[in-house]
Amino acid sequence: MAKQVTFKIKRYSPSEDKSWVQEYTIDLRPGMTVLEALWNIVRHVDGSLSFRYSCRGAVCGSCAMVINQAITLACHTQVAMLGTDVIEIEPLPRMKVLKDLVVDIEAFLDKYKSIDPHLKNTLPHERELLQTRDSRAQINDAVKCILCTSCHAACPLTAVDDTYLGPAVLTAAQRFAFDDRNENRDEILKKVNDTEGALGCRTVSRCTEVCPKGIEPSIRIKEIKAQIKKHANEGKL
Ligand code: FES
Repeated sequence: MAKQVTFKIKRYSPSEDKSWVQEYTIDLRPGMTVLEALWNIVRHVDGSLSFRYSCRGAVCGSCAMVINQAITLACHTQVAMLGTDVIEIEPLPRMKVLKDLVVDIEAFLDKYKSIDPHLKNTLPHERELLQTRDSRAQINDAVKCILCTSCHAACPLTAVDDTYLGPAVLTAAQRFAFDDRNENRDEILKKVNDTEGALGCRTVSRCTEVCPKGIEPSIRIKEIKAQIKKHANEGKL
């Protein structure tokens, strides 16, 4: 007989404005991830359970949630590795819940878009636009960001200050401010040169603890602060 696992899932009904914890017990299959377990519940037990996912391979960042008190990706978490028969699942903290495990990321995306997170280059694109090795090395970590919002949800400052951009957005700022192909580098530094941006970080480093990609956003923010200081000393800001 297959081993059984009980999931205690925090649910929320927007139509009733009601939240509750619902239990589901399912058979554990070898190698089953938490995301697969959620799908098993939807298919065979309760089709009304809502959650986000897309890639199932820790690439899209859609399935971030709290699993046994830890913020992580459901598709990257094997049930057996949790070492318990009872698994508690909640939506990401400090974010508005739309339904069950689905949180509202609109405010986060607005902040993300506000820093112009893309390469701007006016050179004729007749051939590949090459990046120097030094520049690539400087953004080696930040390019791994999948915008899962785990760090954004974990940061205690984003919880108390709606205007603070937060670690994921500042990681994107580091990525585009250090890319030597981007003609918009100084503009991005200017955008985050205040307490709503990099200067607002107090290096609590919860972001670094929860990042599923090991990006260490708190270090990336320190790099932005150092770059801002350098540019200010050179009279560029
Ligand atoms: S489903 Fe894409 S990161 Fe988990």
